[in-house]
Amino acid sequence: MRTAKRGAFIVLEGCDRSGKSSQSRLLYEFLTSNGYPAKHMHFPSRTTEIGSTINSYLKNSKELNDQVIHLLFSANRWEFLKEMQNLLNTGTTLIVDRYSYSGVAYSVAKGMDFDWCMAPEKGLLRPDAVFYLKAPIDYLIQRDDFGRERYEKKDFQSKVANVFDRLCEEQTEFWHSIDASQSEAVVFEDIRLKAMSVLNKAKHKPLCLL
Ligand code: TMP
Ligand code: MG
Repeated sequence: MRTAKRGAFIVLEGCDRSGKSSQSRLLYEFLTSNGYPAKHMHFPSRTTEIGSTINSYLKNSKELNDQVIHLLFSANRWEFLKEMQNLLNTGTTLIVDRYSYSGVAYSVAKGMDFDWCMAPEKGLLRPDAVFYLKAPIDYLIQRDDFGRERYEKKDFQSKVANVFDRLCEEQTEFWHSIDASQSEAVVFEDIRLKAMSVLNKAKHKPLCLL
């Protein structure tokens, strides 16, 4: 893979309502307004046929078994692999709201096997950094709109948080835990500083695979 001046691949992870969407948008806006080519993406991408099936499942209008929905979430990422690779190699930084780690965390929280859940992610691009927005579950469930979709239940989110905690502890070289219970501006300042350092280092590093 080409290494000269590639973009950085930054992922934001965390439980539902942890502020990933707002923070990833703020980071995207900061980068583009300061002359860094960037693209803001979100998984699941509900725009494709697979994404539309995922959407029906999340809205509780369609039932699928746990293995099938797991593989559809993964397939939804594979649909975008080439596009992501091309963008990164031509110097665009990707700010991605959820990725393979959500895939693993939500399925493992259901009781599924960790290695089985990780297997379909192998071969996708590995992020340069994961910003894990971490906040107490009691804080998240008070946020607007919590409870609308399938997984937005307190006990389940606690299990998801346990898996994210484990991933963060095991992959300290590129995971960064961020206290998401602080104000939006304080959280963003933390993310902005970390992101600029990631952008600088990524330029000289080859893209790796999961
Ligand atoms: P969203 O709220 O960020 O749009 O994500 C929708 C839900 O899907 C959220 O509860 C997390 C869950 N999810 C998975 O279970 N597996 C995945 O691979 C992804 C990307 C999300
Ligand atoms: Mg959500």
